Amino acid sequence: MNVTSVGEATGDLGQAAQLGARSYGTDADIDIDTDSAVVSRTSATSALGSATASANANIALIKYWGKADERLIIPRASSLSLTLDGLTTRTSVEFLADGGPGDTGDSDVSASNNATDTSAIADSLTIDGKPQAGKSLARVSRFLDIVRERSGIDAPARVVSSNTVPFGAGLASSASAFAALAAAASRAVGLDLQPRDLSRLARRGSGSACRSVFGGLVKWNAGHDDATSYAEPVDDSKLDLAIVVVLISGEKKPISSREAMRRTIATSPLYDAWIDSCASDLSEALRAVAGGDVRRLGEVTEANSFGMHAAMMASRPAVMYWLPETVEALRAVASIRESGLGAWATMDAGPNVKVLADGRDATKVADELRSRLPGCGVEVHRPGSGVRFER
Ligand code: PMV
Repeated sequence: MNVTSVGEATGDLGQAAQLGARSYGTDADIDIDTDSAVVSRTSATSALGSATASANANIALIKYWGKADERLIIPRASSLSLTLDGLTTRTSVEFLADGGPGDTGDSDVSASNNATDTSAIADSLTIDGKPQAGKSLARVSRFLDIVRERSGIDAPARVVSSNTVPFGAGLASSASAFAALAAAASRAVGLDLQPRDLSRLARRGSGSACRSVFGGLVKWNAGHDDATSYAEPVDDSKLDLAIVVVLISGEKKPISSREAMRRTIATSPLYDAWIDSCASDLSEALRAVAGGDVRRLGEVTEANSFGMHAAMMASRPAVMYWLPETVEALRAVASIRESGLGAWATMDAGPNVKVLADGRDATKVADELRSRLPGCGVEVHRPGSGVRFER
């Protein structure tokens, strides 16, 4: 059993607040890819260990785009994000005593597993009341294999996850999903990980998940191996920030971020230039945070995101997430800023626009966006907490 990364016990509910630089409100959402199919695992079971944890989504201000190590998910550059309230995944994990090594459960599950390169162990996964199979289950099972290997527990798990999704669908992010799963699964097998080690574990599920372990502003140190690539909170007490989300489309993205990153690295002549700019953008952003300078932070946030999308679009073939409404929303943000409000755009692997706003202006920025973009959903999200355990 490999227990080298296990830290001291972190306690329960109350101590979850320590995972954030501040104690923020709760609640928000996330998504794992949701191919749906039926998993019927109905045998009577007894639990070896169980735990429930929640985590919030985060939006990167200085982006992560591209891996130096695909298996360990070590990024090419460090990044900076804001964990948000109102976008929460709550996940319960129960390891089941009656399933031993190699138990593949019912045949439906094995059939789908064979097709998707997954764990030998038949886990079950329910997201928002819907049983999952295919890629979603395979991805979760592969992640659970890491937890099983570390704990020496070779049992299948029942994973039940629910999300607070204000728009009904589409804020693509696996960050809160894998942060909550890492927390619940590790706690269920008795690995009481220190926040840094929990962040390292969450990173193995989805890179950006390592940042959702912490609340508020968070820096992911790229590092160079599993031990050195982790997130940590950044003191954001001099800033009042909010993210206004403009939902343009809730549809599944045309190309996964994993695949799109690979293509950008392999074919975009602009990728190396963008990666080089990330180091100075991050330093600039951290100076702005330390100085409480929201304008400087906003400017570098917007520039870093546009640089990333320029590199994506220069890929061959292009990685193009933008829709016509994306351009409309970006023009609206620029015009709102010209009118004197603090608002800067950032975008991820999808057509939706997120607006970093001065917290004092956020409600006005949202009102302006609603009136200029009548077809879009607009929601204000304030900084949120890091991972929280229920037991
Ligand atoms: O963690 P992933 O594989 O979903 O990648 C996230 C990448 C971006 O959202 C585009 C940027 C980021 O830093 O979150």
